[in-house]
Amino acid sequence: MAGHLEDGIIAPEGAMVTYGSYLKVKELLDLQKPLSSPSEHDEMLFIIIHQSYELWFKQILHELDLAEKDLDSNNPFGALKTLKRITTIQNILTHQVSILETMTPNDFNLFRSRLNPASGFQSHQFRALEFRMGLKDQAYLKFYKTAPESLKAIESAMAKPSFTDHLMGYLARRGYKVPQEILSRDVTKEWVPSLDIESLYLSVYENHAKHQDTYIMLEALCDLDQQFSLWRYRHVAMVERMIGSRVGTGGSSGVKYLSSTLSKRFFPELWSLRGRLGSAAAYGQS
Ligand code: HEM
Repeated sequence: MAGHLEDGIIAPEGAMVTYGSYLKVKELLDLQKPLSSPSEHDEMLFIIIHQSYELWFKQILHELDLAEKDLDSNNPFGALKTLKRITTIQNILTHQVSILETMTPNDFNLFRSRLNPASGFQSHQFRALEFRMGLKDQAYLKFYKTAPESLKAIESAMAKPSFTDHLMGYLARRGYKVPQEILSRDVTKEWVPSLDIESLYLSVYENHAKHQDTYIMLEALCDLDQQFSLWRYRHVAMVERMIGSRVGTGGSSGVKYLSSTLSKRFFPELWSLRGRLGSAAAYGQS
C-alpha cells in the first residue's frame, strides 16, 4: 500500500552521517562468527545473546561511573535516576535468559563442544562489575592470566573504591555516623559485611519518615541487588535445563558452582537488617 513516505524523509548523500555510519552497523553485523561446520542454526542465537549481554554490561559500568560521581557531589537524586536505569537494564538481562531457553539441550549439544574451554565465567566485564560492587575476591584474578586486557580491567576495578565506599562517604557527609575505620578502610579489599552499617541502615528504616531520601536510596539499592540475584537464579536454572549435572565448559562443576554464588550480595547489610526490623532488639530493649 502506497502513501506512507513523506517528502521530508532524507535520502542520505555523500559524507552525511547515516544510521549505519554512526552506529557502525556493518562492523557490528560482521562480528558474529559461528564455529560450527556445517553450521548449526542456534549458534547464531548463542553468539548474539552473549554479545548483547556484553554491550549492556558496558552500559552498566558506564552508568555506575555516573552514579558514583553523583554520590561524590552529594546529589542523591541524580544517583537515584542512574540506579533506576541500571536496575531496569539488569531486569531486561534477567528476562533475556528466556530467549536462550527457546534453544533445547539437543540444539545446544550440536555445537557446545566447539566452545570448550570458553565460558561466561571469563567475562571480564561481569567480573569487573562484581568487583566495582565490592565483591573483590582476588581468587578470580588467576583466570585472566592469558587475557592481559581483561586482567587490567578487573585490576582497575579492584583498585577503585567500590560503590559502597562512595555511599559511605556520602552518608558520612550527610551526618550519618559511619565508623572511621570504614571511611579509611583499604578500598582495594573486599567489602566485609559490617554490623555497624547494618545498624545504621536499620535506624534509617525504623525512622524512615525522618530519613526519606536515604530510605528511598537504600530501597533502590536493594532493587538493584535483587535484580542481580534474580539474574543469577535465572542463569543457573537455565544452565541446569541445558546441561544438567555436567561440568561447565569453563571447567567448574557447573550448576553446583553457580548455585554456590546465589548467596552473593552487593549490599549484605540491606538484607540482614530486615531480620531485625520491627523487633524490640532493634531499639536495644531486649
Ligand atoms: C546455553 C547457555 C549457557 C550455559 C550452558 C552456561 C553455563 C555456564 C556455566 C556451567 C558456568 C560456570 C563456569 C563454567 O564452568 O563454565 C557459567 C558461568 C557464567 N555464565 Fe553462563 N551459560 C550460558 C549462557 C550464559 C549467558 C547468555 C551469559 C551472559 C553473559 C552467561 C554468563 C555467565 C557468567 C557471567 C558466568 C560467571 C558466573 C559466576 O562466576 O558467578 N552465561 N555459565
